[in-house]
Amino acid sequence: MFVSFEGADGSGKSTQAELLRAALAAEGREVVLTREPGGTELGERIRALLLDGPEMSSWAEAALFAASRAQHVEQVIRPALERGADVVCDRFVDSSLAYQGIGRGLGVDEVLELNLHATRGLLPDTTVLLLLDAETAAARAGESDRLERQGDDFRQSVDAAYRELAERFPDRIVTIDATGVPETIAREVRERLRDRS
Ligand code: TYD
Repeated sequence: MFVSFEGADGSGKSTQAELLRAALAAEGREVVLTREPGGTELGERIRALLLDGPEMSSWAEAALFAASRAQHVEQVIRPALERGADVVCDRFVDSSLAYQGIGRGLGVDEVLELNLHATRGLLPDTTVLLLLDAETAAARAGESDRLERQGDDFRQSVDAAYRELAERFPDRIVTIDATGVPETIAREVRERLRDRS
């Protein structure tokens, strides 16, 4: 299966992605844990541009995320799925829909179209959306990179954007309250995924 984790900065996605990887591996499955932006050499270079590079237009930003994703799908995700491995990805297309499509106002349909070209139609089987109120997420995340320095309005709009995406894609997106301790959330994630397969 192909699972992505989504949520605002500070929602605990990376921790949960790792805990799911460990749980699946403990069940004897081959798991590839990866992340966006990044996951390939090209992707890591694009990541550096996106996080610490110069100011850029919103479409330039969306196109760079999509470019990183195209390489990631071709080089890492599709080969893993084809050999029967599970793929757990820390952020995927929904990050672009939330941050660029809604946060930057480019439009969900437009950004989805760009991304469906980039991934050649690949979407996760399940997307786990970790929901946390915007202030708690901000306090947990700190402000370390260009995208995280956007301020409260941007953060609130990303939070609202994710909730909107969950309503729009209810068959794919599972929402989980991310307020509790990591182990409890991880158990809930594993159960919700089991219910679906
Ligand atoms: P990441 O390093 O995963 O941040 P965190 O570890 O805090 O989750 O992602 C970096 C930033 O990139 C984050 O603010 C979200 C943003 N982003 C987009 O705007 N669009 C995208 O498509 C992706 C993958 C990330």
